[in-house]
Amino acid sequence: MMLVLLGPPGAGKGTQAKNIEKKFGIDHISTGDILRSEIKKNSVLGMKVREYVENGKLVPDSLIIEIIKEVISSNGTKNGFLMDGFPRNIRQADMFSGMLDELGIKLDRVINIVVDREEIIKRLGKRRVCKLCHAVSSVNNGEDSAICPKCGGELIKRKDDNGEIIRRRLEVYEEETSPLIEYYRKKGILLNIDGSGTEEEVTGRIFESL
Ligand code: AP5
Repeated sequence: MMLVLLGPPGAGKGTQAKNIEKKFGIDHISTGDILRSEIKKNSVLGMKVREYVENGKLVPDSLIIEIIKEVISSNGTKNGFLMDGFPRNIRQADMFSGMLDELGIKLDRVINIVVDREEIIKRLGKRRVCKLCHAVSSVNNGEDSAICPKCGGELIKRKDDNGEIIRRRLEVYEEETSPLIEYYRKKGILLNIDGSGTEEEVTGRIFESL
């Protein structure tokens, strides 16, 4: 199965991607995770993209396309894939479509997770990432020194999860990414999923629709 996950920052794309990956055995490809890992390694790519990622701006399309080409050629696509955070604008979507045509691959579904702005801001304010195992979780208000529920590691806040940068990411989403909803609706492969409620409820809706 070839899938794309769409939705605003904090909609729960990464959270749901883990559940979809497990159920269908397809590769979860998160451009955000790839970029953050390159930044952590201080690689040449990491140094080029740090400023964009930490300030909530889109990384230049040319760099993203190179990453996607590399991932697809090294992972192969026979097990299927789940793109999370890509494509991010019409230009990336057109390039992706051309790439898939060349490989003779058909995109099956684009899952658009719909969550309102107030809930997004709440979720991003509570999000923490484990320094050790990189699992994503949420903390309750005021619980800044909580430990990872999976491995007991230290929880940290993502650099782009602060007020002003969250607002910028939401603006970038509205301007650049949200037109993809119409783009994929016209192609007849869009699935709108209500992203409110618990993680399990959202997963249930996605599995039912697929
Ligand atoms: P990226 O990592 O893709 O970030 P994003 O799109 O902003 O999405 P998030 O990771 O913030 O949110 P999510 O939807 O995955 O939510 P999550 O599951 O964590 O991109 C980061 C940056 O990289 C970009 O700003 C850009 O600079 C660059 N970049 C990446 N791709 C690019 C591209 N293609 N082109 C150019 N630049 C690119 O959930 C959020 C929180 O809510 C968590 O705490 C979670 O536990 C909680 N939660 C999840 N579901 C629920 C629920 N149902 N109820 C309550 N809480 C929930």
